[in-house]
Amino acid sequence: GRRVTVRDIAAAKERGEKWPMLTAYDALTARVFDDAGIPVLLVGDSGAMVVLGYDSTVPVTVDELLPLTAAVVRGTSRALVVADMPFGSYQTGPEEALRNATRFLKEAGAHAIKLEGGERVLPQVEAMVAAGIPVMAHLGLTPQSVNAFGGYRVQGRGEAGERLMADAKALEAAGAFAVVLECVPAELAERVTRALSIPTIGIGGGAGTDAQVLVWQDMAGLTPHTAKFVKKYADVAGVLRSAVQEYAADVVSGAFPAPEHAYH
Ligand code: KIV
Ligand code: NA
Repeated sequence: GRRVTVRDIAAAKERGEKWPMLTAYDALTARVFDDAGIPVLLVGDSGAMVVLGYDSTVPVTVDELLPLTAAVVRGTSRALVVADMPFGSYQTGPEEALRNATRFLKEAGAHAIKLEGGERVLPQVEAMVAAGIPVMAHLGLTPQSVNAFGGYRVQGRGEAGERLMADAKALEAAGAFAVVLECVPAELAERVTRALSIPTIGIGGGAGTDAQVLVWQDMAGLTPHTAKFVKKYADVAGVLRSAVQEYAADVVSGAFPAPEHAYH
């Protein structure tokens, strides 16, 4: 089959169909998600933390995310692959934003990019859309602004909710094809979803959005601590830990390798 496109995503909203999105950072896990039918994969700058071990998404660079993005594209045949633009790669203006976004498409094969923010990134969104690059927006808890927020907390309560609504409408008008709503009150996320004709993708935004996204290591139980909005669908850390412990014990006891694992 062919790749999912932004037109398919738009059509899903018209049909009122909800869809799942996951992050991915390497070829093998991306292939599992692709085979499972996840239509959109995000190479999140969350890879800064869950892959590269930084303590926030702030330090990660385009050069670090490009190879992860390329790996996800190479590992998949059906999913639309969205590359997350890291902090510092688009804030300085539309020209640098376009130059960096172009790298994700040309050098890594991404099909769309994502960036954080509302009003302040409209010129960047417009420049990319004009250049033919599909843009996914991201409002609410935008982790690249953690230093300004003073931590990871719910955004868009009270008056800030009206600003978020205005930002969402402005992003749609600028040509964004979807908008992530992270860690916002469910009532607000639902209101924004009804107000927009482009799909909303919730993470900690309740059940009223058109789509949902989670960091795969969170939903699969690899990350040690997760937010309230995460549902843990597996205990991958536990499975890996016992596999490794068993392997280690087998090596020490001499049970591995057995004759069938050797060449003669
Ligand atoms: O980087 C990321 O994983 C994200 C999603 C959680 C939306 O931005
Ligand atoms: Na991100």
